[in-house]
Amino acid sequence: MNKLELVKGFLHGGDYNPDQWLKRPDILEQDYQLMDQSEINTVTVGVFAWGRLEPEEGIYDFAWLDNVFDKMNRRNGHVILATPSGGRPRWMSQKYPEVNRVDSEGHRHTHGFRHNHCYSSPIYREKVHEINTRLAERYGDNPALVLWHVSNEYSGECYCPLCQIKWREWVQHKYKTLDALNDAWCLSVWSGLYSDWAELLPPSLLGDSKVHGMDLDWHRFVSDMTIDFYQHEVQPLKKLTPNIPVTTNFMAESLKEGRYTPLTGLDYGKFSKSLDIISWDSYPSWHNRYETTAETAMKTAYIHDQFWSLKQRPFLIMESTPSCVNWGQYNKAKQPGMHRLSSFQQIAHGSDSTLYFQIRQAQGNSEKYHGAVIGHDGSSNSRVFKDVQQYGRELKKISEIKGAIKHVKVAIIFDWDSNWALNRGGGFGRPTRLGIQMLQKHYANFWRKDIECDVITSNMEFSQYDLLIAPMLYLIRQDTMEKIKKFVKNGGTLVSSYFSGLVDSNDRVNLGGWPKTLQDIFGIELKELDTLLPGEHYHVSFNQKQYETTDYDQIMRANNALVLGHYTDNFYGETPAITRNQYGKGTAYYVGARLSLKFIEDFYDDIIQKLGLGNSFVKSSNPVVSVQTRYNGDYVYHFVMNFSEKKQMIEFQRPSFDMLTQREVMTSVQIDKYGVMVLKERKNN
Ligand code: GAL
Repeated sequence: MNKLELVKGFLHGGDYNPDQWLKRPDILEQDYQLMDQSEINTVTVGVFAWGRLEPEEGIYDFAWLDNVFDKMNRRNGHVILATPSGGRPRWMSQKYPEVNRVDSEGHRHTHGFRHNHCYSSPIYREKVHEINTRLAERYGDNPALVLWHVSNEYSGECYCPLCQIKWREWVQHKYKTLDALNDAWCLSVWSGLYSDWAELLPPSLLGDSKVHGMDLDWHRFVSDMTIDFYQHEVQPLKKLTPNIPVTTNFMAESLKEGRYTPLTGLDYGKFSKSLDIISWDSYPSWHNRYETTAETAMKTAYIHDQFWSLKQRPFLIMESTPSCVNWGQYNKAKQPGMHRLSSFQQIAHGSDSTLYFQIRQAQGNSEKYHGAVIGHDGSSNSRVFKDVQQYGRELKKISEIKGAIKHVKVAIIFDWDSNWALNRGGGFGRPTRLGIQMLQKHYANFWRKDIECDVITSNMEFSQYDLLIAPMLYLIRQDTMEKIKKFVKNGGTLVSSYFSGLVDSNDRVNLGGWPKTLQDIFGIELKELDTLLPGEHYHVSFNQKQYETTDYDQIMRANNALVLGHYTDNFYGETPAITRNQYGKGTAYYVGARLSLKFIEDFYDDIIQKLGLGNSFVKSSNPVVSVQTRYNGDYVYHFVMNFSEKKQMIEFQRPSFDMLTQREVMTSVQIDKYGVMVLKERKNN
């Protein structure tokens, strides 16, 4: 067992920046008293402290950090120690300009901001190796150290001459010959053929911006470079501190109102292989005006489940806010009860921590108004502080759940490269691709019915699932196709949709209608994919009901498949819209049109019943009350969470025991606005 696995109970705490307060020993002293009062047992330190740790090149100051370790050891607390590459010292950017990134228009950036170093720069790599080695040597054996937090929220790309060389090497290594490259990227189009490797530059608006295969490979390259840099950072840590696990904090993105998903820029599926434990920074926009609380909760749940699925082991919430963020257009505080509810939701989906950004609010600059456990008033009487304190106390009551796992029978497939290709392709409706939103619509069906659902990549194992959902899986590699085939042949149930399997791994359109393997699995042949205008709708008849289509209608022909639903209008006539095919021992469903959540719910009801996927503890689900379950040894823990502004009723099959109130719970229960219960029962009930 590594050091983190040995920790008893959940980690509660977060980013702590004493390096911003070194001239205020009174404040530093007060911090620890307030941490004790709010049941904080963990601090994440040094995330952006390189300027303090190495104020001049080769001159180090660890005294303030030693003090943090001493303080945490005295209270049997835990330290998550960051490597500081997320924010380098100013002297370094000045002396070695190559550490600064170059943007896609060729501008070399000067010092400032953060998360903006060049991943290729040998000097940056050398400096990172040096500081990481010193940290590992100094704190590797320290009893308080439980985890390495490598850098911070890796992201972005660099176009400098060094990265251009790396890019050329990467492409050359992949394709070996220019001929193969010219074919893979379809470069006969618009006279794009290469005749010399030296002609190869990264894609950019100044040059190649329409070569889809190149864009796809650039995404892959940026991911690989980021992972390579991370691995370089980790080397001395693994060598000097083999029993301290290593993570880096993954991100989610909310680029447009209502869109909240794991970061799409880096292939986290691939990246996760190099992490000992997954961690991520969770900042949902609660109480917004564009969706209900339950919808925000569903999307947050989806992200938790996707991060859970990367290793199918407990993950960590590395950052969350106890109240508001500072980077939104409008930065709204969490309303009473939401901190508790949203934090328990993290645990419910498999987190072994609730960590915050940050423990003490900054006095100046960008994040001075970001929520923190200890506000500018330094008070233990603030609403936020009390929320954290109450949650900390409750978290202690359920500490036996740390490490508990989940048993999941349904999985949705999300592939980063398929998503890159889907969003890159021209044609169809540009604003209506909405790939992840559609995955979330399928996910919502299960979330609302309290059925756990993983979100996996196609590189993962499928065989443990009963139901595999792969809508809009635009790019399907040959090996994935074979895996899907095996899954269905062996008895699995598969659901897919319009837009699946249109291109190959180089984003070239599959010829001959559709890959033969997919035609066999689904028993259909694809014809046209019709794009609808905003507001334009046609209809599908399914199970004697009419449903409206939006954005896309796939026209097809059923060969072996049974037609479950057909179009009723437009030029499609009564052609098939929803089909089911028996393939080997399994079943493959194809949903040809984009349909509403109502349709999706009706559609899956039958499948859920056939496969016996329903929640065996919940008698009747309430779509705004989520039930999520973790398992530990002989016990099962059901988290019951009301994501609505009203009291709700929910019915269970059996009585159980609420760990938070220490009371028995009957089968029919009323749960308050934003209420949470953690119900415990013995396994095999
Ligand atoms: C994260 C970042 C933190 C802090 C936080 C504010 O993305 O890792 O350092 O800036 O956002 O919400």
